[in-house]
Amino acid sequence: MKPIPLGILGSGKGSNCRAILESIRSGSLMAEVRIVISDVFDAPILDIAREFSAPNAYLPPGRFHTRLEPQAEAELVRMLREAGVELVVLAGFMRVLKSLMLEAFPRRIVNIHPSLLPKFPGLEAWKQALAAREEVTGCTVHYLDEQIDHGEIIAQREVPILPNDTPETLHARIQIAEHELYPAVIAEFARKYQES
Ligand code: GAR
Repeated sequence: MKPIPLGILGSGKGSNCRAILESIRSGSLMAEVRIVISDVFDAPILDIAREFSAPNAYLPPGRFHTRLEPQAEAELVRMLREAGVELVVLAGFMRVLKSLMLEAFPRRIVNIHPSLLPKFPGLEAWKQALAAREEVTGCTVHYLDEQIDHGEIIAQREVPILPNDTPETLHARIQIAEHELYPAVIAEFARKYQES
């Protein structure tokens, strides 16, 4: 038994974090959440971590809006290393990570995005899919690189767009798919980690 040590980063409601923690609890994912970190002091994702007794921390992001201040990114690397994290899992983390993080965790940072990338990177991808009159959208898990919602794709799940969909109903349907896909992808990393 060698659970893969995870660090989960998020800025918001944390439903993907919950899905991962529930998969660990149910025994379908051989992983251990070593730390949950948020750049938002009162983000619900931190409450979810506490609910599951997972270590958690607020990381003051500094003065920028779309990325971390370099000292904050260095602190993030330090916290993740200190926690012994092998795989960094972005779950609604709304800041771009730069070379400090990418070089500290090469091919060991994954992100989930609510579209079939390369379509609709960026904010509120489900609204972009609706506006483009797509019939199918979905979610993507990918490795992180320097560009937004861009790195090598690991897995995707399709989600139909229904005629009466609103942004809310569509995002909710995509999130159901996310909550299945993300733990399944992490379980694949966990299997490889077991064998290493
Ligand atoms: C998820 O839908 C995720 O795909 C998206 O933020 C949401 C977070 O939800 N991420 C992005 O758009 C990244 N570009 P959650 O906090 O409930 O897990």
